[in-house]
Amino acid sequence: MKVSSTLTAMQTAEAMRAAGVDVVDLGAGEPDFDTPQNIKDAAAEAMRVGKTKYTPTAGTRDLQKAIIGMYERDFGAAYQPNEVMSTSGGKQAIFNAVVSLINSGDEVLIPKPYWVSFPEIVTFAGGTSVFIETEDNGFVLTADMVRRAITPKTKLIILNSPSNPSGRVIPPAEFREIMEVIAERGLFAISDECYLRFVYPPATVFSAASLRPELRKRLCIAGSLSKTYAMTGWRIGYSLASADWTRAMAKVQGHSTSNATSISQAAAVEALSGSQDSVATMLAEYTRRREWLLKALNAIPGLKCPEPEGAFYAFPDVRGCLKGKLETSADFTNELLEKEQTVVTDGAGFGAGGFIRISYATSLHRLEEGVKRIRRVAEMGV
Ligand SMILES: Cc1ncc(COP(=O)(O)O)c(C=O)c1O
Repeated sequence: MKVSSTLTAMQTAEAMRAAGVDVVDLGAGEPDFDTPQNIKDAAAEAMRVGKTKYTPTAGTRDLQKAIIGMYERDFGAAYQPNEVMSTSGGKQAIFNAVVSLINSGDEVLIPKPYWVSFPEIVTFAGGTSVFIETEDNGFVLTADMVRRAITPKTKLIILNSPSNPSGRVIPPAEFREIMEVIAERGLFAISDECYLRFVYPPATVFSAASLRPELRKRLCIAGSLSKTYAMTGWRIGYSLASADWTRAMAKVQGHSTSNATSISQAAAVEALSGSQDSVATMLAEYTRRREWLLKALNAIPGLKCPEPEGAFYAFPDVRGCLKGKLETSADFTNELLEKEQTVVTDGAGFGAGGFIRISYATSLHRLEEGVKRIRRVAEMGV
C-alpha cells in the first residue's frame, strides 16, 4: 500500500518549517481557516452537558436529522434515518462503502486523475481498480467513457466532483447520464462530495442526491464537513445510501471504530443547521485567490492551467516547462522543493504525471511568493 503523496507533502513542509526554512506550502489539502466559532461553541456545550458517551454506530438522531434536513432543504431529496450514517470523516464513509460492497475480483472504475486514497481502499477490499483516462476531455468524465470501461466484472464506480486534484466539475446533465448507465447495468456508484460547496460561477453546486430516486438506489453519497466548515481535525463526515447498503456499512464501522466522536457529532449538527455565513466568507476568499492564481499561472511561459470550476486546487500542465534535467513533473516538484523551498504535489500520485497540484487554501500573500518561485523553476526549462 502506498503512502499518501499529499500527506508526504504536508510532512515535508512541516519538517522544513521546524528547521527554520521559509517554506511556501502549496501542498495543503485543508483550509487555512479556523473552524467557525459557533461550531466550536456547540462542541464546548456538548462536553459541558456530558455528551461524552458512545452514540449509536450510525450517529445521533440529532445529526441524522441535520443531515437529512440539509439534503431536503438544498437538494429536494427525501432520505430516511436508516439511510444515513455519520462517520469519522468522508474518508471513512468511502472506506465503509467500498469494503462492504467489493469482493475479490470485482472491478472498480476510477476516473483519472483520482484522489490518492480511492485505489488504495479498493486494493484493501481485494478489488481491482480500473482507471478511466479523461485527459482528452480536460479531465471531465463522460457517460461514453464509462460505457466503454465497463466489463462483466465491473461492480462500482467512484465519482468525485468537484475533483481533487483537478478541481473539474462534471456538468449535472452528464452526471445524470453517467448514473443512467450505472443503473442500466445494475452497478453501484459512490459520489464523493467532499468539495460540494466550493464551486465557482458559472458552475453551480450539484449533489447526486438531487437525482431521481431510481437513480439513487445504487448510489452512496460520501459527505464531509472537513473542507466546507474547516473541520479537518474533527474527523466528521457521513454517508447517504440505501437502507441495505447502510446496514452493511454500519457493520463495518461497528466492528472497527464504532461511532464518530460524540463531540464532533454535536458540532456537526450546528455546522449543518446553524448559520452558513462562514461558508460564504471562505468561498469568497477562495474565489479571490483562484482568480488571481489562474491568471498568474497562465502568465508563466510553458505552463498551462485550464480553469477548474471547483475545490481549492489548480492543476497545471507543466510538460511545456520540462527540459534538460527536468524530465518529469516529479523532477519539477523536487526542484521546486530543493531550490525554492516550495511544496506542491506531483500529479503522478493522482495518476496524472506531467501535472502538479497547487492548493490555494493559503493566503494570497503566500500564493504570490509561491508563484514567483514556480516561475523561476519553470523558466529553467523553457
Ligand atoms: C476528494 C476527497 N475525498 C475525501 C476526502 C476525505 O476528507 P475527510 O476524511 O477529512 O472528510 C478528501 C480529503 O482530502 C478528499 O480530498
